[in-house]
Amino acid sequence: MNPALSIALLLTGLQVAGGQKVTSLTACLEDQSLRLDCRHENSTSLPIQFQFSLTRDSKKHVLLGTLGVPEHTYRSRTNLTNRNTLKVLYLSGFSSRDEGLYTCELHLPGQLNVSQKNISVLRDKLVKCRGVSLLAQDTSWLLLLLLSLPLLQAMDFISL
Ligand SMILES: *[C@@H]1O[C@H](CO)[C@@H](O)[C@H](O)[C@H]1NC(C)=O
Ligand SMILES: *[C@@H]1O[C@H](CO)[C@@H](O)[C@H](O)[C@H]1NC(C)=O
Ligand SMILES: *[C@@H]1O[C@H](CO)[C@@H](O)[C@H](O)[C@H]1NC(C)=O
Ligand SMILES: *[C@@H]1O[C@H](CO)[C@@H](O)[C@H](O)[C@H]1NC(C)=O
Repeated sequence: MNPALSIALLLTGLQVAGGQKVTSLTACLEDQSLRLDCRHENSTSLPIQFQFSLTRDSKKHVLLGTLGVPEHTYRSRTNLTNRNTLKVLYLSGFSSRDEGLYTCELHLPGQLNVSQKNISVLRDKLVKCRGVSLLAQDTSWLLLLLLSLPLLQAMDFISL
């Protein structure tokens, strides 16, 4: 193949892969749970790594994701709905102790830079969530939940 053509193809591939940006991060309160909506581009079939975290008193706590290990205290309080360009995280039992800077980040394996958005969450400033539940339309999370339930139970059991 023509070397110039190969390079052009390679560059195009990289550009497509580089387009995985977090486009927005919003927070709202649903019952007593904090709901974070992280919207992002998805133009690749590569698995995207992601992470939700909370920075509080200059300390970063991993809530959920595939990049770092979620902290034990949050693991039992969070759940995730994963769609093509939207990730919804719930943190149950939200209180003023969970106030801080929430971050949603995306990372493509093999790429150095990370795309992220931050949102500062204060209990008094938090709006109530509106609109239909996303969960009713999606069944893959249910399957995932059912499959991971024994594992979660096992982990809880061990940690007791
Ligand atoms: C991006 O889309 C592909 C298929 O279109 C899907 O397999 C993949 O899980 C999506 N990535 C994320 C992070 O949702
Ligand atoms: C996730 O948590 C929220 C609030 O705690 C709850 O309303 C929702 O049903 C949960 N979803 C799943 C998939 O467990
Ligand atoms: C990586 O950085 C470049 C230059 O700042 C940017 O154009 C590109 O969108 C970034 N890629 C990701 C995945 O954020
Ligand atoms: C989000 O917050 C982190 C930690 O404070 C900071 O390093 C990062 O630059 C912020 N990102 C954006 C996009 O503002």
